Amino acid sequence: MKNSKLHAVTGSFGYSGKYITKQLLAKGQQVITLTGNPQRHNPFGEQVRAYAFNFENPEALAASLEGVDTLYNTYWVRFDHGKASYQKAVDNTLKLIAAAETAGVRRMVHVSISNPNSDSHLGYFHGKGLLEEAIQKSSLSYAILRPTVIFGREDILINNIAWLLRRFPLFVIPGNGEYKLQPIYVEDLAELAVRSGAAEDNQIIEAIGPETFTFKDLVGMLKTKVGSRTPIIHLPTGISYWLSKVVGLMVGDVLLTKEEVIGLMDNLLYTDAPPAGNTRLSDWVAENSETLGKEYHHELKRHYK
Ligand SMILES: NC(=O)c1ccc[n+]([C@@H]2O[C@H](COP(=O)([O-])OP(=O)(O)OC[C@H]3O[C@@H](n4cnc5c(N)ncnc54)[C@H](OP(=O)(O)O)[C@@H]3O)[C@@H](O)[C@H]2O)c1
Repeated sequence: MKNSKLHAVTGSFGYSGKYITKQLLAKGQQVITLTGNPQRHNPFGEQVRAYAFNFENPEALAASLEGVDTLYNTYWVRFDHGKASYQKAVDNTLKLIAAAETAGVRRMVHVSISNPNSDSHLGYFHGKGLLEEAIQKSSLSYAILRPTVIFGREDILINNIAWLLRRFPLFVIPGNGEYKLQPIYVEDLAELAVRSGAAEDNQIIEAIGPETFTFKDLVGMLKTKVGSRTPIIHLPTGISYWLSKVVGLMVGDVLLTKEEVIGLMDNLLYTDAPPAGNTRLSDWVAENSETLGKEYHHELKRHYK
């Protein structure tokens, strides 16, 4: 096909990478994926060939990127667990950037986070800050997308708040709940990624949705839309976090990390910028209220089988 180029997407069988892949294929583009699980079910069949990340073998990693025009990077770890850590994710992503340079990749679209900062004491925001600096120093042209929370069918945070509201006799909000967040729809993020992948200039985009919620209002909106009658109470941060640990033990998962609570309460999932996506979370929740939160979405099962 005319204008069809080869693109590499990390995590095409995962969450945001899957939607980026879908949109590239719909535009007649060719896609390969880099993944930690090349044997996993491939929803795209022969359309998308899977390569292992090969972080320990830079030559093989660069070889898998031969002929690639644009690399869409979603790779990251949500928290330190087992052999996975922020430090390792930073080191691996630096290897990915170097491999893309070696392979002659033109452009990198990198999914970051709102308010990244290499000086942050929070590992997530610190690591993302370091990576943004490395990408800007690299020889690649780049687009950096900074989402806050990404919502969609496979999302974890919003789904699991709805799950708690459906299942538990109380929902606990840490502190006053006045801290804010601006969720973006996963398909809007994917569209943004594909559009910015086709551009030439270096870009940093605050990838936020059209609605700003306080956490308290977000929980209230979810409660109403899923028809929950669970009372919502406010407790000090430390107690709320320990209660989330207890629920985590019950489901065999990490529900929320201390860093995530601090980041949220420090308003790091909020940024003063115009929206980059159009889909309103409140509309999407209304459309999906029958299914949202019916099942728990398990981070550890997804990434640490
Ligand atoms: N989800 C959100 O609400 C949210 C909010 C703000 C920013 N972000 C950023 O958006 C990007 C994509 O997030 P996502 O939720 O769409 O991620 P995802 O699809 O679950 O994972 C993205 C990639 O990271 C790999 N990965 C994830 N956890 C891993 C682990 N513990 N060990 C090894 N590899 C791991 C996955 O490997 P496999 O290919 O093997 O699956 C996949 O290639 C990330 O950079 C994240 O920081 C996400």
